[in-house]
Amino acid sequence: MSWGVKNRLSRIIRNGRCVMLAVDHGYFLGPTSGLENLGKALPPLLPHADALMLTRGALRTSVLPESAPPIVLRVSGGPSVLKEDLSDEYITTSVEEAVRLNASAVTMSIFVGSAHESRTIANLGKLVNEAERYGLPVLAVTAVGKDMARDARYLGLCCRMAAEQGAHVVKTYHCEGFEKVVEATPVPLIIAGGKKVPEREALQLARNAIESGAIGVDMGRNIFQSDNPTGMIRAVRAIVHENASVDSAYDLYKRKVPAR
Ligand code: 5RP
Repeated sequence: MSWGVKNRLSRIIRNGRCVMLAVDHGYFLGPTSGLENLGKALPPLLPHADALMLTRGALRTSVLPESAPPIVLRVSGGPSVLKEDLSDEYITTSVEEAVRLNASAVTMSIFVGSAHESRTIANLGKLVNEAERYGLPVLAVTAVGKDMARDARYLGLCCRMAAEQGAHVVKTYHCEGFEKVVEATPVPLIIAGGKKVPEREALQLARNAIESGAIGVDMGRNIFQSDNPTGMIRAVRAIVHENASVDSAYDLYKRKVPAR
C-alpha cells in the first residue's frame, strides 16, 4: 500500500474503527426520505462522522468545505430505482475530480450474480488501477440484487472478489456466520445499515457487526430517518469506538442534543 493510500485511509479509519455516514442514496433513489434537503440534514451529524459517503453533486451543493469530514466519494451510477436491474452501473465521476474535491477515498458498487456482474467487476479493477496512481483508496460496496441470499457464502464470495480486484476496504451486509466472511476477506470490512428498523435493532446490528469482526459501519437510513438522528449517530459511535453495550448506546440515542 502506498504512503498516500495509507495516509488517506487513516483519516477515515480512526484507531482501527470507522463510523461512516452514508448519504449517497439520491444517486439512484432521488430525494430519499430524511435527505430531501441535504443542506439542512447534514450539519448536525457531520461532527460525529469519521467519514461521509456521498456523490460529487451532493458534496458541491450541500456541504461546506470548511466543515466536511473526510469524504468517500461515490463515483458509480446509472440506473434509477425505476429500473428492474440496478446492476447496469458505470463509473460516472473521474478520479481526477475526486482528487480535485480532496476526497479521502472513492467508492462504487459491484453486483455479483446480477446481469451486469462482469462490467461492475471490471469497473472496480479499472478504478483501483486509476485511484492507486493518485494514492486514493477504493471502498467497494457489495450491492445485493433482489434475488440474492444475504448469507455468508454469497457475501463471502462478493467480499473476496472485491478484495481480489484490489479494493482497500469493502462494505457489505452483516449475516449469520459473518466471522467466516471476515476470515476469508484480506481487507477490512464495514457493514451497511440497510432499511430503517427500530433504533434498538439498528444498534444491535452495529454491535453484532463489531463483535464478529467488522471494523465499523457505513450507516444511512437508520441514522437520518431516526426521530433523533444526532442521538442515533452518537449511539452508533459509542458502540463502534467505545465498545458500548446496546443498552447504554440506546440511552445515548434517546438524549436530545441541544442545537449548536
Ligand atoms: C447503496 C449504498 C448506500 O450508501 C448504503 O446502502 C446506504 O446506507 P443504508 O443502507 O444504511 O441506508 O452503498 O448501494
